[in-house]
Amino acid sequence: MKPTVFITRKLPDKSIAVLKDQFEVRMWEEEEVPVPKEVLFAEVENAEALFTVVSDPVTEELLSAGKNLKVVANMAVGYDNIDVEAATKRGVLVCNTPDVLTETTADLTFGLLLATARRVVESAEFIKQGKWQSWSPFLLAGHDVHHKTIGIYGMGKIGEAVAQRAKGFGMEILYHNRTRKPEAEKVLGAKYCSFDELLELSDFVVAMAPLTNETKHMFNAEVFSKMKSSAIFINSSRGAVVDEEALYQALIHNVIAGAGLDVFEKEPISQDHPLLSLPNVTALPHIGSASIETRMSMIHICVDNIQRILTGKNPRTLVNK
Ligand code: DGY
Repeated sequence: MKPTVFITRKLPDKSIAVLKDQFEVRMWEEEEVPVPKEVLFAEVENAEALFTVVSDPVTEELLSAGKNLKVVANMAVGYDNIDVEAATKRGVLVCNTPDVLTETTADLTFGLLLATARRVVESAEFIKQGKWQSWSPFLLAGHDVHHKTIGIYGMGKIGEAVAQRAKGFGMEILYHNRTRKPEAEKVLGAKYCSFDELLELSDFVVAMAPLTNETKHMFNAEVFSKMKSSAIFINSSRGAVVDEEALYQALIHNVIAGAGLDVFEKEPISQDHPLLSLPNVTALPHIGSASIETRMSMIHICVDNIQRILTGKNPRTLVNK
C-alpha cells in the first residue's frame, strides 16, 4: 500500500503532482476554512505525512493519534503551532520553510512600517469614502521614516533583511538579539544594544523574534512605557509576543504613537477587537510571506521534504534537534 499524505488546505493540483505520483494524497478541499479538528484527527490516524499551515495546532494529542506518522511539513518558517518536543519523542520529523520567505516577509514588514508611519491605509480609505475636500497643510500628515532610528528585536534572517531595507532609507539601525551579528554590524552598520536601550532610542520598534516561552507577551505595559511617545510599534512575527491589552492601553493613552500589526494572538482576530477600532493601528491578516512566488516556493519545500522522508532520504529543512 502507498503511504498516505494528508494536506490540511486546498493547494493547486500542479504544486502537489509529485506527491500524487507516488503516494495516496488526501486533502482538505477548502482554501480559507481550516480543517475541523475531528477531520484532522480522523485523517492523521492513517497518515504517514501531514502537510500543515500555521493555523493548524499540531499537539501531543494529535501526534499520538498519528500512529504511522513520520513527518509534519509546516508551510511556514515559524513552528510554534507544533509541539516539536512531543514529535521528537515519537520520532516524527518536523520540517519548516526557511529562507524562501525572508525577502518577501521583509518587504511586507517594511511596507507595513511605511504604511503605518505615513497613514497610507487611512488615506486610501479617506479618498474612497469621498472625504477629500481640498489639499490642506496637515491633512493626513504622518511621521517621517527616512533618517529615523529603527530598533529590531530579533535579528534573524528576516530581521537582517528588514535592516537592509532600513539602510536604504538612511535609517540608524539598532538591534537586540540573543547573539551579536558581526556581519550585519559590518555590512549594514547595525548597532547592537540592550533591549532597554533599543526601546528608549528607537522611533520604530520592530518585533521579529519567534514565539517561544521567553518571548510570549514580551511586549507588555512596562515595555511600551519605555518607548518614545512618538514610537511606532511593528509586529510581523507572532501575535502572542505582544500583550494586546497592554498595546491597546498604550495606544489610547498616547504612550506610543501607533502600531502596524500583521499578526495577532488569536487569528483571525475578531472584527470587534478593540485594536481594530483605532485609527493609528494598521492591521493586516498575516500576509508577511504572501506573494504568489513565495507561497509556491514554500509549498515546494514542504512537498520535497515529504517526498524525501517517505522515500528514506534526508529532509531539506529539519526542525527537530
Ligand atoms: C511563517 O512563515 O512563519 C509565516 O508567519 C507564515 O507565513
